[in-house]
Amino acid sequence: MKPTVIVKIGGSVITDKNTGSLKVNTSELRRIIDELSSTELNLVLVHGGGSFGHTLAKKYLVHKGKQYSSTHAASKVMVSMMHLNSIIMDTMVEKGLSPLSLPPHAILSDQGRFRAYQKKLLNLALNQGFIPVTFGDVILDQKTGFKILSGDFLAAELAIILQAKRLVFGTNVDGVFPNLDDNRILREVNRSTKFFSVTTDVTGGIQYKVKQGLRAARAGIETLIINASKPGNMKAAISGQKILCTKIVWE
Ligand code: IPE
Repeated sequence: MKPTVIVKIGGSVITDKNTGSLKVNTSELRRIIDELSSTELNLVLVHGGGSFGHTLAKKYLVHKGKQYSSTHAASKVMVSMMHLNSIIMDTMVEKGLSPLSLPPHAILSDQGRFRAYQKKLLNLALNQGFIPVTFGDVILDQKTGFKILSGDFLAAELAIILQAKRLVFGTNVDGVFPNLDDNRILREVNRSTKFFSVTTDVTGGIQYKVKQGLRAARAGIETLIINASKPGNMKAAISGQKILCTKIVWE
């Protein structure tokens, strides 16, 4: 089988996460999908929620589970994510690609771990030439009723179970910064590196992304945090060309 590359597109790259407006940045989405089309490798795409996920989840405290929120609110967030997902699926099909949507709320629960069944489904899809597409979502949880499953977690999990060659986190910054006053990114981050992190979203921001990246790096997967808003970066990163970015290494 061809090597696999896992790409996470951050919600802030394709939606307006700061204002919360429920609009997709169509030109950015189309450009990134064009860049992804160039790969000869097996591709699995994970997208974040951006304004379609975080704004509603925060408003209704969906990330805190049923005790602080409601099943109706959880449904609202799921529907909003399905909406964003269908825009991405439409765009991929328009561009001649063959995506296959795997909504986490329908196939995962609790810790969001992929078991034999999901792995089989993914491999079947890849073998048929599909691009599996999944996303940060609300999933059922035996303890809290429901919870938010981050796309960053999914991306690392997929990279590990599919023994991917490469995992690329596409964000709207060049990489991980050492501190607030330094605008030069760290070219490499390992498990003891101190770096700048503020968290305003419901899934833990850059700190959580690095944690998930470390998980993949530990499994021997080349893991990068890149600026997907810069034209050409995604295409270069997925094919292994060097760009300005942060590489996550275990040691
Ligand atoms: C968030 O997923 C999903 C929801 C809030 C429902 P992510 O955490 O992967 O999204 P981004 O990339 O930060 O927007």
